[in-house]
Amino acid sequence: MAAPRVVLIGPPGSGKSSVGKRLASLLEVTWRDTDDDIATTAGKSIPDIFLEDGEPRFRELEAQAVAVALAEHDGVLSLGGGAVLDPRTEGLLATYVAQGGEVVFLDVSLAKAAPRVGLNAARPLLAGNPRARWQELMAARRPVYERVASRRIDTDALTPAQAAARIAGLE
Ligand code: S3P
Repeated sequence: MAAPRVVLIGPPGSGKSSVGKRLASLLEVTWRDTDDDIATTAGKSIPDIFLEDGEPRFRELEAQAVAVALAEHDGVLSLGGGAVLDPRTEGLLATYVAQGGEVVFLDVSLAKAAPRVGLNAARPLLAGNPRARWQELMAARRPVYERVASRRIDTDALTPAQAAARIAGLE
């Protein structure tokens, strides 16, 4: 059974995609994102899933997508910001870490994350007041990110390339 080289977790705007792509390139492996998998399975975009089917259905699809990706992907895997909230996902990640896997929490401040997520309609959970919503999400989730991660990287002072190099052990 395959296992990812590295799993990236963190809130929206923490750089899970940009760091993940660079890290995969450094490690010479492929990059996969569970949000992409969910959209492919559902045949529609993440905002459309939220709008038409609701968040509970999205979370169900997400838990399934994470389980499949953890079992079959052997490169870098980026999870959606809320994926770790599912107890099944937390359990799978705990097993993965216990077996030597690396789950990296990309920590980031509101100041750095806000311009990245600001008015992006592709993030339905931040609709309305993105800055306030982001802060609420991060406050509620930080304990989970810290509990699930085997490693935390403070990305505020790092470019995505620097964060990727640090995770890869190159700096
Ligand atoms: C979500 C984050 C999104 C996406 C969905 C829900 C969340 O992914 O999975 O909109 O709950 O934080 P990103 O973290 O890549 O923005």
